[in-house]
Amino acid sequence: GAPVKVDVSKIEPGQLIRVEWRGKPVWVVRRNQATLDSLAKLDDQLRDPHSDEPQQPEYAQNEYRSIKPELLVTVGICTHLGCSPTYLPDSFGEQVKGVTSGFFCPCHGSKFDMAGRVFKSVPAPLNLVIPPYHYVNDATILVG
Ligand code: FES
Repeated sequence: GAPVKVDVSKIEPGQLIRVEWRGKPVWVVRRNQATLDSLAKLDDQLRDPHSDEPQQPEYAQNEYRSIKPELLVTVGICTHLGCSPTYLPDSFGEQVKGVTSGFFCPCHGSKFDMAGRVFKSVPAPLNLVIPPYHYVNDATILVG
């Protein structure tokens, strides 16, 4: 499939937009500074906090799992059995105390943080997949 161009200039902090790439949902999320600051504090609750698993692209092997810290680009498919996780921009509610935001898969309860990193003790084995992408300019990314 052809690469997909995404205008990222109008995504507000906390907002998630969805695009389709090769039949898959890709999410682009603008994270605010508080969210970015919170990521490091979660490391001991995560299965693969530094994205050491070999299938990760090189630019995902950092705290933010992204090329630019503020913009997360990830495939919106649960790495357990492929359900679509729900974006919870404000709260996981009672399910995950102490975690303010992230992605929750309703099928079997897997949880991912705002970098798509999977929590320990959930069925999903891996972090959310980071697709190939790059910046064409500050306002535009190309996925694929
Ligand atoms: Fe997401 Fe099973 S498919 S937890």
